Amino acid sequence: MAIAFKDLKGPKGLPVIGSLHKIELGNMHNQLEGWSDEFGPVYKLILGPSKLTVITDPAIIQEILKERPHTFRRMAKMDDVLSEAGVNGVFNAEGEKWKSHRRIVNKGLDVKHQQQFYPEIMVSLERLFNKWNKSENASIDIQQDLLRFTVDVTTSLAFGYKMNTLEEDGDVIQEHLEKIFPTIFKRINAPIPIWRYLRSKKDKEFDHAVVEINKFIDELIKDGEERLIAQPELREKPTNFLESLLVAAEEEENITNDDVRGNLMTILMAGEDTTAHTLAWTIYLLADHPDIQDKLHQEAVKVLESEDWLSTYSKHSSLIYTEAVALETMRLKPVAPLLLSEPLEDVVVEGYLFKKGARLLTQSRYAGIQDDHFGNPNDFLPERWIKEEQGKCPMGHDTKAYIPFGAGPRFCPGKNLAMLELKLVLSMLMKNFKVEMTGPKEEVSEIMAFTMMPSEYSVKLVKR
Ligand code: HEM
Repeated sequence: MAIAFKDLKGPKGLPVIGSLHKIELGNMHNQLEGWSDEFGPVYKLILGPSKLTVITDPAIIQEILKERPHTFRRMAKMDDVLSEAGVNGVFNAEGEKWKSHRRIVNKGLDVKHQQQFYPEIMVSLERLFNKWNKSENASIDIQQDLLRFTVDVTTSLAFGYKMNTLEEDGDVIQEHLEKIFPTIFKRINAPIPIWRYLRSKKDKEFDHAVVEINKFIDELIKDGEERLIAQPELREKPTNFLESLLVAAEEEENITNDDVRGNLMTILMAGEDTTAHTLAWTIYLLADHPDIQDKLHQEAVKVLESEDWLSTYSKHSSLIYTEAVALETMRLKPVAPLLLSEPLEDVVVEGYLFKKGARLLTQSRYAGIQDDHFGNPNDFLPERWIKEEQGKCPMGHDTKAYIPFGAGPRFCPGKNLAMLELKLVLSMLMKNFKVEMTGPKEEVSEIMAFTMMPSEYSVKLVKR
């Protein structure tokens, strides 16, 4: 007989509120991992009216993610919260609508576009280099620079809009974007939608951020529409995601003007924080590994030759060790470790019965840091991702337990772009500088706010 919700163990709670009082939202992913140690890979968590099944078993997670959009969907509550904020995009679309959105997203983010827009990415990379070169030996807030870099790259590649937040001061779009994820995460986890009746200071800041982002999106749409009028041939062969969306909104029933807006918001949000925080985690991990920094430097010298950054697109595939460092960072510090799903029918997976409409919370980091999946799981060992090295040491290496970009048909469509950005920034940084932390590393903590980011820290860049 399949194991049902009532048979599962889980943390003991209080009447009515369950374990709600125990949840520290910003640290929830770690709490979930702790409870998985105690209650196993599938357990129940009652948070007020919300009955969650928490899953850390990689085989079950893979199966759930693979069986979308037919047997599982993203949790409906997520769509309620996102749609209310005007985000009707590929991330929260379902069924046939999701298929239409996803087709356009895949095309807009494919490798061909990366190649085509490489010169634009280079402009942002050069700006980042110049900024860091000037700040040599000073203590810098590198996280802010990384967020500006990723927003500039995303807008240029996906929307064909030339942004330069890296060289602007003050009120840039990125400051509004950073208000969005924490509020959305809070609302998804709220037992009742209190913000609909009582608006806190944070809710008002969120409303203001949404208005400002929408103004920016108006600009992007106007810019795209003008391009389509000036160059009607782009209708047949759109050069980016925005142009494809605008054409689809005119021609396809499944794509409305609201969907255009919602998808621009989705890509802005999905493309910025995730990659910037992954870079911030990599730099944090490298700070006390000068040996790994030296290896990265040697690879960068070999591949970049006399250049300060990689100006030839095709050479990025030679940055093998750099890629391994990024992959290893995402095993220890995946920035999107929590995904929410819901079965569309009663379904049994690996002996567990998940009823239609059940709330499933998958925690994807847990498996990647257990020694039954990866040897020496707590050590930062990029070599484990290099094929020739894997044979030399008897370490477990179970790639099924490695899920930082999700899995199945809805896996991250920005993966290739993210990997490219990670390699470009890391090779530029390591070719030219050594990184040192200016404050105590132990004080940097993991903060969960939809994405999992490091708390603020500063570094010093020492010229090589
Ligand atoms: C290191 C960087 C990134 C990480 C770790 C990451 C991770 C993820 C994860 C875990 C998901 C959920 C996948 C699933 O449900 O199976 C996702 C979805 C998504 N990501 Fe990323 N992502 C990154 C960068 C990007 C970038 C650069 C973009 C676009 C510019 C992007 C766009 C999206 C979109 C549109 C979805 C929704 C896909 C769908 O529902 O069909 N991501 N990402």
